[in-house]
Amino acid sequence: MLPSGEGWAFAPSSVQSVRRLPTEKEIHKENRLTPNLPDYKKAYKGFQWEAVRTELGLVPPVNLASKAVDQHASSWRRNKVALYWEGAEGQNCKYTFYELKNESNRIGNMLLNLGVRRGDRVFVFLPRIPELYTSVIGIAKIGAVAGPMFSAFGPEALRDRLLDSGAKVLITHTSLRERIHRVWDELPELRHVIVVGASTSGGHMPLRKGEVSFEREVEKSSRGLEVEDMDLEDPLYILYTSGTTGKPKGVVHVHHDMLSHYITSRWVLDLKEEDVYWCTADPGWVTGTVYGIWGPWLNGCSQVTFEGRFDAEHWYSIIERYGVTVWYTAPTALRMLMKAGPEVVKKYNLKSLRYILSVGEPLNPEVIRWGMEVFGLCIHDTWWQTETGAIMIANYPSMPVRPGSMGKPFPGTEAAIIDGKGNKLPPGSSGILALKPGWPSMMRALWGDEKRYKEYFTIPGWYTTGDTAHMDKEGYFWFIGRADDVIMTAGHRVGPFEVESALVEHRAVAEAGVIGKPDPERGEIIKAFIVLRHGHKPSRELEEEIKEFIRHRLSAHAYPREIQFMDGIPKTRSGKIMRRLLKARELGLPEGDLSTLED
Ligand code: PRX
Repeated sequence: MLPSGEGWAFAPSSVQSVRRLPTEKEIHKENRLTPNLPDYKKAYKGFQWEAVRTELGLVPPVNLASKAVDQHASSWRRNKVALYWEGAEGQNCKYTFYELKNESNRIGNMLLNLGVRRGDRVFVFLPRIPELYTSVIGIAKIGAVAGPMFSAFGPEALRDRLLDSGAKVLITHTSLRERIHRVWDELPELRHVIVVGASTSGGHMPLRKGEVSFEREVEKSSRGLEVEDMDLEDPLYILYTSGTTGKPKGVVHVHHDMLSHYITSRWVLDLKEEDVYWCTADPGWVTGTVYGIWGPWLNGCSQVTFEGRFDAEHWYSIIERYGVTVWYTAPTALRMLMKAGPEVVKKYNLKSLRYILSVGEPLNPEVIRWGMEVFGLCIHDTWWQTETGAIMIANYPSMPVRPGSMGKPFPGTEAAIIDGKGNKLPPGSSGILALKPGWPSMMRALWGDEKRYKEYFTIPGWYTTGDTAHMDKEGYFWFIGRADDVIMTAGHRVGPFEVESALVEHRAVAEAGVIGKPDPERGEIIKAFIVLRHGHKPSRELEEEIKEFIRHRLSAHAYPREIQFMDGIPKTRSGKIMRRLLKARELGLPEGDLSTLED
């Protein structure tokens, strides 16, 4: 399956002209499907959003959730499987588009009965169970704003998001509700906590004070729902993401996003009617919401979702048992599969796979090479952000992949490498990765924070991404790094400030500085430098205690895997932690300009 060695030049990213890799079509000969986007150049040149609007049949007022589910439920796709669900314990079930419509309608009615109205924020804090998916759709159908949250979040992360958004209702699960009870007192606007899995008549998981039973309320609710007609600019969902400073920001997306969701799923994910698609991301992160809910269902595609955590054998067996054809995952997961070794992969028949994509961090050429060997497919990297709301730069099935490159801008999107004044830089120059504002899924606001929203647009004419990159002569973009201190760990974006704030709440911690430290498996791991309070001494036990503290309080993905105790943290004269210097010292790099360092 692997083409002969010669063509496989895995050149460093700075090399302008690498020998081309075969296209998908050339590699996977027995699976000759014409890509949905057969000619990238032509599509880019002639692209018009108006044509996508027509193709999707977008006539406002309209509701994205209804377009993604109800339109299929009243078409020949009515009995097509929309969702194949597999639980952490191996249990499974299916939902057709018709069932998905009914279930989400009942949830919509449940929320209306509880007083939720258009524009209210309803947050969802659930494991990846079917109720997560039906709830997000039900919320959107009544014109409320959905706020999916990752199930690993601790009380502090929950409080920040619910407080900032002024959420009126939270839908959670018995296994997670304890965390919300710990902060509910601090959330004056949170009126109802709806719990999945609590028994109404005693039992071993009875409802607790103030809670509402999801099952009982849904049972009482009708399957007939008048879906709210929305203006395209009305909010659809909010996802919180991290920056360098301050608490997480609530990125607001609107119903108009559907144009980007639909067409990127068609052209980048290459979804076709007969595909069985698996996105491994949790809807608490943007990939899991956009490409694990909206995009594929707008295309009427069957999706697989797995509740459990990463496990190489289980993941391969999901591909085999469900016959997954298109798979969207992350470099960390791919690296972990690679580490699990060739013996594991050989046990499974993975021939159903025809297309693999990756997002979230740089995709190492080494991983692409491994993918070729074990799947006979070239893994396609994609680049985007919570703020962009859809894939912006990608490798397309009809275009040769340059391993290590994120690919080319999506049609209808202008990406450029610019300097601080907004001038476009020539090919090969490193600079700020920027996009021309105006694509349909661009974030519309940061919830309640116009000042921080405007910071993305300080260079006239551009949306700045916070990433640095360069472009080669043929227009391929190559990721260099973050321009700020944001940490990307195992594909998750973590703000150092959030971790530092949580750390100093520990009884022994006086000060903390947090950086991302390169890690072969996770991209980066979180490393914390800590100054202890008077009376506390560094020890292994204390280190473990602090790690556990963050894991429970903030989130399992945000705890520092490495801790170093110090006598002092380098700061600027104005008292800002110099993370740049902490990082340079950690990695043995030049310390750079130290003129602002306090004495
Ligand atoms: O730094 C880039 C990195 O992830 C950031 C966006 O994070 P988030 O909003 O959490 O969204 C992640 C998934 C959509 C970017 O600013 N990133 C994303 N994709 C890539 C990437 N870095 C390198 N290569 C990528 N393909």
